[in-house]
Amino acid sequence: MYSRILATGSALPARRVTNDDLAAELAREGIETNDEWIRTRTGIESRYFADPAAGESTTSLAVAAARDALSASGLAASDIDLIIVATTTPDMVFPSVAAHVQAALGAAGCAAFDVQAVCAGFIYALNAADAMLRAGPYRAAIVIGAETLSRVIDMKDRSTCVLFGDGAGSVVLQASSDPGVLAARMYADGRYDETVLGLNARIEHGRTAGDPFIRMDGRQVFKLAVEGLTESAREVANLACVKTEDVALFVPHQANLRIMSMVAKKLGIPEERMVKTVAEHGNTSAASVPLALDRAAKSGMVRPGELVLLQAVGAGMAWGSALVRW
Ligand code: ACO
Repeated sequence: MYSRILATGSALPARRVTNDDLAAELAREGIETNDEWIRTRTGIESRYFADPAAGESTTSLAVAAARDALSASGLAASDIDLIIVATTTPDMVFPSVAAHVQAALGAAGCAAFDVQAVCAGFIYALNAADAMLRAGPYRAAIVIGAETLSRVIDMKDRSTCVLFGDGAGSVVLQASSDPGVLAARMYADGRYDETVLGLNARIEHGRTAGDPFIRMDGRQVFKLAVEGLTESAREVANLACVKTEDVALFVPHQANLRIMSMVAKKLGIPEERMVKTVAEHGNTSAASVPLALDRAAKSGMVRPGELVLLQAVGAGMAWGSALVRW
């Protein structure tokens, strides 16, 4: 028994913010950055920021992405018996985003929970859903990555605020006797804690305590990302008895074009087989991989039967890869 991806979906906020827009905003705070620095160091050209006043939230983006995938899948909401949302920016501590998505879809009664593995969250959620569908009794799942990181970036820290964006992506997975998800692995190393990458705020006795913004040692994350992503891709390829060179569509975490290109080169995957949405979306954390996958699927970059490699890395440190037969 396997699980297969039946359909993909995505959603973005209405407001697109270019590097020039962001540089102008930062200049008003006396902080210098420019399009050239951001573009050459990261590959990012723009990102989308949610507007809470217009009702845009992690939940609203997750619901829109779920509806998009569900309508393309041919399944009804009542067919779904599992909803997993990967997010680091839930709208509230609890209930989960997944429970709110379930209510909005009208799929009352099915299992619904969130996964918190930061940028690696979608790979974790996909791995969990695949295992649950193969083991049963679950038959059909919606797996979503959704974030509004714009709420937790420090607009006075130019080394992080230029990197992140908001959005959501999703897949509908169904239990199947035909191969779909061939192998998936997730990893974590908690020794690389919030001193490397994190957001250590917490709610204490009615107040927010700690630092409420993302902090990152970019150089260390860069090095760990290249190592972890390369090794995890090789491991899932070994588990599935295929070669990374045979991957037809490479969907890496869209954090930094330099990291993506380095990993593709190490794996022997030509650049033209790699999905690149980082220029348009920035780093959308758990939403990055499903957003990029949806773009590739809708633009016909992958054909039935081809091999698709998905992978992501983020705070924890947590990372992982999944290999899928399309
Ligand atoms: N504009 C202009 N200059 C800047 C900016 C900016 N926005 N940000 C930093 N600089 C300056 C620095 O101050 C520094 O100046 P100095 O040399 O005078 O001290 C110089 O640029 C170089 O800074 P570095 O941090 O060394 O730049 P680097 O080449 O390492 O690029 C970056 C930084 C883009 C963050 C890179 O390290 C990176 O992408 N790291 C990986 C991030 C990642 O993949 N994260 C994924 C996980 S995210 C998650 O899980 C939430």
